[in-house]
Amino acid sequence: MKRYPKTEKYDSDWISKNWMGPNPLWLLEELCGNLELKPGMRVLDMGCGKGLTSVFLAREYGVTVFANDLWISATNNLKRFEEAGVSGCVFPIHAEAHALPYADGFFDAAISIDSYQYYGTDEIYFPTVYSKLIKSGGQFGIVVPGFVKEFDRGRPDTLAALWQPDMYTFHSGAWWRALWEKTGFVEITACYDMESPKEVWRPWAEWCKGNFNKEFGGGDDGEDDLETKFLDADVNNDIALVVMAARKKG
Ligand SMILES: C[S@@+](CC[C@H](N)C(=O)[O-])C[C@H]1O[C@@H](n2cnc3c(N)ncnc32)[C@H](O)[C@@H]1O
Repeated sequence: MKRYPKTEKYDSDWISKNWMGPNPLWLLEELCGNLELKPGMRVLDMGCGKGLTSVFLAREYGVTVFANDLWISATNNLKRFEEAGVSGCVFPIHAEAHALPYADGFFDAAISIDSYQYYGTDEIYFPTVYSKLIKSGGQFGIVVPGFVKEFDRGRPDTLAALWQPDMYTFHSGAWWRALWEKTGFVEITACYDMESPKEVWRPWAEWCKGNFNKEFGGGDDGEDDLETKFLDADVNNDIALVVMAARKKG
C-alpha cells in the first residue's frame, strides 16, 4: 500500500480512538496532494466527525479550520481540539449540511472526508448550497466510498446480501465528476480512485469487530462484522475510494 508519511507522525491509538470510517488521515493526506493549502487560509472541514482531519489540517498546513459536524457535538470536539493544542485555530461547529451558518464566499477551501456522500448526492446540493461557501478561485476536495463503475441496480451482485440502504450513495468517480462539472461552476482538477482501497479500508473494518457496537451503538444486527464481510465479499474488486478536487471558476 502507498505510504502516507504525514499520517505516520500521528499516534495510531489517537486515530483509532476517534475515527468514524476508514483512516480519515490517509484519505485526507491523499486528497491534499491535489490541493494547494497555504497558512492562514480558511478551510471548512465538512462532516469532520471527531475532528482528526481538522487537527491534521491545522498542524500540517497552518490553516484555520471550521470543523463542522452533525452527529458529534461541538463541545466534545472542542475538548479534543484543546487536548491537541489547536483550539486557537480549529473551531468546532455543530450544523446540518443544509443549514450551515457561513457567509457566501467565506472559505478558501472546503474538504470533506467520508461524509459528502450523506448529503451531496442530491443534484441540488452543490449548485445551491455547497459551491456558494467558497470564494472564486477557491478549492473543493472530497473523498467518498464508492465503486469503480456504476451498476444498473446501484450495487454489484457480489454485495447484494450485505447491502444497506445508505450504500445507494456509493458511486463512481465519473458519476461524481459529472455531478459537479455539469454545473459549470468548477473546473475538476483531480478525480480518481485511491490505490488499494480495500487495504486502506481494512484496518477500520477490523477495528469495527468488537468496537463498533460499543462505540456507536449498533444493536444486535451484526454491524460489528459488516465492514469485514463487505470487503471480503467484493471478489470482483468493485469497491473504490473516490478522490475528487475542484477549483471554483471566477
Ligand atoms: C462516516 S462519518 C466520517 C467522519 C469523519 N470525517 C471521519 O472520517 O472519521 C460521516 C460524518 O458525516 C457527518 N454528516 C452526515 N450527514 C450530515 C449532514 N446532513 N450534515 C452535516 N454532517 C453530516 C456526520 O456527522 C459524521 O460525522
